[in-house]
Amino acid sequence: QEAAHSSGWSKTVHLLETVISTQEEAKRLAEDGAPEGTAVLAEEQTGGRGRMGRKWHSPSGKGIWMSVVLRPQLPLLTTPQLTLLAGVAVCTAVRQATGVQAGIKWPNDLLAGGRKICGILLESSLSEGELNYCIAGIGISVNLVSEDYPDYIQGVGTSLRIERGGEPVDRSALAGVVLAELESLYALYLEQGFQPVRERWEAMSVTLGRQVAFHTPQGRNEGTAVGLDGQGGLLLRDSAGEIINVCSGEIELI
Ligand code: BTN
Repeated sequence: QEAAHSSGWSKTVHLLETVISTQEEAKRLAEDGAPEGTAVLAEEQTGGRGRMGRKWHSPSGKGIWMSVVLRPQLPLLTTPQLTLLAGVAVCTAVRQATGVQAGIKWPNDLLAGGRKICGILLESSLSEGELNYCIAGIGISVNLVSEDYPDYIQGVGTSLRIERGGEPVDRSALAGVVLAELESLYALYLEQGFQPVRERWEAMSVTLGRQVAFHTPQGRNEGTAVGLDGQGGLLLRDSAGEIINVCSGEIELI
């Protein structure tokens, strides 16, 4: 299993100048049969996409805008685990390559000092009801300064450069570490399952122990984040002491 995987992990990186979204480029390659590990990086995205249909601002030369093809031969039900896996891999890489003590907000936003430095978008393609491939889209605000995107950078977002007191980060070095971490954590996951990923996620989390708000069809609700379930969902304890399982969507740290 493990040997089959490592030989199947591609080290091919497509470096592009301007694209609409690296997600679409990676999907095209995946449809043409690109092996897992195949990565697409762009200097600039004109139509970068975030979770929940949001736009992802991707100015030229300032960030890592990257999409990676994954082909897990696993049930569709496991994709939330991959979402967390990607967050752990990028968080490990960011800490190691830049010294910024990033933490993970469920499911996979990276925060530094309470502000967002990275967002991850995992998209799955199905074929006859089975998981065909996944595209892990990773957007890291590396060298943005406040003037690049004032509403965001001075609001809920920040960049690695700002967190390092103005010291810029070598984007290619960081991208290399991100891909290496993704490859090794994914191999560990295929070999040992979700448990090691879950332990690392919990250790890097800035969510557990916090009071959080979330939305349900019944309206806004609050609870204390107490852990992850086996699928990667977040477990909350509400004021009545009931355990609630949040498996998708978004939470707010309060
Ligand atoms: C989010 O936090 O909402 C997820 C943001 C994901 C952004 C990345 S940048 C590379 C890839 N291409 C896209 O269009 N989106 C993802």
